[in-house]
Amino acid sequence: MNKSISGFSKLSKSKKIDWIVSTYLSNSDVAKNTIKQYFNTDKKLQRLHDEFIENTISNYYLPLGVAPNFLINGYTYAVPMAIEESSVVAAASKAAKFWMDRGGFKATVISTTKIGQVHFMYNGSFDNLKLFFNSIKSELIENAKPITKNMEKRGGGIIDIELRDKTESIDGYYQLHATFETLDAMGANFINSCLEQFAKTFKAKAENTLSSPIEIVMSILSNYVPDCLVRAEVSCNVEDLTEDNIDAEAFARRFVQAVNIAEVEPHRAVTHNKGIMNGIDAVVLATGNDFRAIEAGVHAYASKDGQYRSLTHAKVENGIFNFWMEVPLALGTVGGLTSLHPLVKIALEILGKPKATELMQIVAVAGLAQNFAALRSLTTTGIQEGHMKMHLMNILNQFDANNQEKEAIVNHFKTHAVTHSAVVEAINELRTK
Ligand code: MEV
Repeated sequence: MNKSISGFSKLSKSKKIDWIVSTYLSNSDVAKNTIKQYFNTDKKLQRLHDEFIENTISNYYLPLGVAPNFLINGYTYAVPMAIEESSVVAAASKAAKFWMDRGGFKATVISTTKIGQVHFMYNGSFDNLKLFFNSIKSELIENAKPITKNMEKRGGGIIDIELRDKTESIDGYYQLHATFETLDAMGANFINSCLEQFAKTFKAKAENTLSSPIEIVMSILSNYVPDCLVRAEVSCNVEDLTEDNIDAEAFARRFVQAVNIAEVEPHRAVTHNKGIMNGIDAVVLATGNDFRAIEAGVHAYASKDGQYRSLTHAKVENGIFNFWMEVPLALGTVGGLTSLHPLVKIALEILGKPKATELMQIVAVAGLAQNFAALRSLTTTGIQEGHMKMHLMNILNQFDANNQEKEAIVNHFKTHAVTHSAVVEAINELRTK
């Protein structure tokens, strides 16, 4: 059977579904129903979602949860989180409550600069290129004024453009390396438009001035933003870490050991940082930001010294437990999905309509809290106890358990270890009674 098609994007939504279902799915009636079950009955809302991307056939839901009691810089937030992993919101809420009782989180924005580059090739004299660049730098900025004037009115814009010689890596390779302040916007469109304008001016002027030609390869922002950095931290007396019969000193020692291991051992560091991203991505997604950009930038930052390491750090000094993280987060609270997606608007309102810098602090704290929760479980009870308790509902749903069955089984597993087979056994037993 021919499984390729031309002109798919031009088909109506229902024709697209017909084609997908008849070409790829075995039970086409059931499949079509499932796809349609996720349509929104509000036609206007459905059209909004249809038009976010091309070739939309349905909506893909994620749960939107809220982790309350996050005390950050003296202000209490309920943090919206969009995520499918059972234990993440529960863990965030637990860590938030734990630190609320110990003075809360502190967060500080260290810097807010974003980067974009025009990559180009040139095989003439570097001195001539440098002279040429210096002579037209102000014109590069001036010609981008139609793009930058509104941003400048608000206090942002182009900070600087540098010429960078990259010929040690690739023959003839140079960059215009530009820095930007985009305020409350994530700024991808703004930066890319500026860069494309720089490239146009640069190439046109070079043609009349330089004897060797400039070949523009591409103009694009960088998602590596080590100078768009936020710090989140917590601290308390070691003895105040006591909870649930945990020996505070032993806990602090083991916690610091666990962080130290993630600082030196890449296999552990990746999982450690994955746990941090559970918190970060969930808030980034709920607030309509680009989680792929954040992921790429954060992991690059985790390997900034040439080895992939833990993003968080911990120490005990003079009887004080300190736990902190610095992380690059280029986030926006205006533009993009933030003004389009109704649930994103609600999420931002729950957070008090934050500026981008405030959102950076909240997101960093969510990551730190998530890591605290994971390490607390890992170094005490082990992770599976909590995970499997949360996963219990997923298993029950797989077996279409009704409310009565759920109640009985959740009760049973309050005092028994949750494993997949134990849950299946309990369901079978209940159903044969
Ligand atoms: C699971 O999603 C995240 C953890 O593996 C993180 C960690 O190991 O630190 C629990």
